[in-house]
Amino acid sequence: MLEKDIERILVTEQEINAISKKLGAQITEDYHDKKPIIIGLLKGCIPFMAELIKHIDIYCEIELMGVQSYHGGTESSGNVKITKDLDVSVEGRHVLIAEDIVDTGRTINVVKNLLKYRGALTVEVVTLLDKPAGRQEDFTPKYIGSTIPKEFVVGFGLDYEEMYRNLPYIGVLKPEVYNK
Ligand code: PRP
Repeated sequence: MLEKDIERILVTEQEINAISKKLGAQITEDYHDKKPIIIGLLKGCIPFMAELIKHIDIYCEIELMGVQSYHGGTESSGNVKITKDLDVSVEGRHVLIAEDIVDTGRTINVVKNLLKYRGALTVEVVTLLDKPAGRQEDFTPKYIGSTIPKEFVVGFGLDYEEMYRNLPYIGVLKPEVYNK
């Protein structure tokens, strides 16, 4: 049903699995002596974070934070809103933020600065997708799954008006879907 709205697949389910395995192994190595808190940014992070943590073999905590910048459309609004705050303190902790995509860089900069302000020792970012051509603010994630061109993508957590998050791959939406 959803597939008819997809112009082409950019990152397949198999590629996402391989990416998660590779990033999980790197994170396992880099954080083996650190007991980090892995913080996923809702809602886009859900499928990627679930896949990624299966491949992280260290003592770590999992937390979630709700952050919104798109408010439904295809362009980042530039107005980053915390919709659900953390339940735990990050003071003195190593934090790894899990994201589905870094686009303008605004969301990640707001969250990173907030967690540093709250006393996190280190704050790094793992993202399934990086869209460097979309940057409005300087930011380079430490762990990147796949670098994609400046196109509006959906699937594997990424939405258009809250739909398509449940697709098992990353795809480009047919323009007629959002030009309706
Ligand atoms: C998306 C995505 C990132 C952010 C990236 O979230 O999950 O958090 O936008 O964009 P930026 O680099 O331009 O800030 P969105 O606001 O759509 O919320 P969602 O995760 O609930 O879909």
